[in-house]
Amino acid sequence: MKNVGILSVGCYLPHRVLTNHDLEKMVETTDEWITTRTGIKERRIAGKHETNSYLAIHAAKDALHHSKLDPAKIDLIIVGTISPDSNFPSVACLVQKALGAKHAAAFDISAACSGFLYAITTAKQFLQSGTYKNALVIASEKITSLIDWSDRSTCVLFGDGAGACVLGMVPEGQGILSEYLHAQGHFGELMAVVMEEREPLNQKDHMMKIPKVVMQGQELFKVAVNSMAHAVEIAVKKAGLKLSDIDCIVPHQANDRIISAVAKKLDVPKEKIFINIDRYGNMSAASIAVALCEAVHKKQIKKGSNVVLVAFGAGLVSAANVVKW
Ligand code: ACO
Repeated sequence: MKNVGILSVGCYLPHRVLTNHDLEKMVETTDEWITTRTGIKERRIAGKHETNSYLAIHAAKDALHHSKLDPAKIDLIIVGTISPDSNFPSVACLVQKALGAKHAAAFDISAACSGFLYAITTAKQFLQSGTYKNALVIASEKITSLIDWSDRSTCVLFGDGAGACVLGMVPEGQGILSEYLHAQGHFGELMAVVMEEREPLNQKDHMMKIPKVVMQGQELFKVAVNSMAHAVEIAVKKAGLKLSDIDCIVPHQANDRIISAVAKKLDVPKEKIFINIDRYGNMSAASIAVALCEAVHKKQIKKGSNVVLVAFGAGLVSAANVVKW
């Protein structure tokens, strides 16, 4: 059996920072409410010219720089995203063009906040089967373009960013030890993007339809805790490990209280969990990709570390991977 591992990581974050204090001037909220309910202090907002593909390309270049992989030798590009530049071309094809990865197959995956792990697991199958030798996996989101900035219950939660990794062959006993993908479509109504009709400024124009994220926060909270804890347990067992063998968990960063509840449910010390939600908010698929990149650069993940990546997202979809670094 071929062993597939993560050879390098990279990320890109827009420069514009939107703090909780900035939000206090936009909607009826407070830094105290946002901090205590979510753990978020600030988030990044992509500017007009920072499209989803722009974020993805920059994250990809960072990951490629660290793996020293020549773009012309990339076999496969997969992007996990729910906020692409447009329905088509895919973000993956825009990345392929920008990198000059002329031999790569390229496509996007839509699995909300689980998109990065769905993409890693999909890419792994192509490498393990011998179809391809390497893959560039990216998670990129300009999710703030779907946010209604007058809705305080959702606009305080999200931010933009992108992360990437290069997958390739690794020695026996290393790399991606297990995967778990799950979907619960019956919970789909808990979080969705709906098209909302809004009055145009000029009354003569037609009504405008604008996408908007809607969410049943409290219900989602409970399902998120159970789904993530369950995904970790299954993936760790499939890897032939015990929870006590795990050195670092990199969870989806939707809410610090969700992460604490998962840690409690699994009886894992919170110090073993990598958290950066305070600086970036929920970046959907990009959250785990950026957190993984930071955890590696901060040496919280080192050679030999047993790492769990775990996600849940709208759909609902949950996923986990155990990786021996
Ligand atoms: N500032 C101040 N007050 C607010 C705000 C705000 N930004 N937002 C809501 N409130 C008010 C509500 O109106 C409500 O007021 P009321 O009691 O007078 O009606 C009160 O605060 C409590 O609201 P709740 O929704 O009950 O607050 P809760 O403690 O559940 O926290 C939160 C809300 C943070 C959204 C939480 O439920 C949560 O994190 N849920 C999970 C969300 C999630 O994970 N989403 C993404 C997952 S999928 C993906 O990532 C793509």
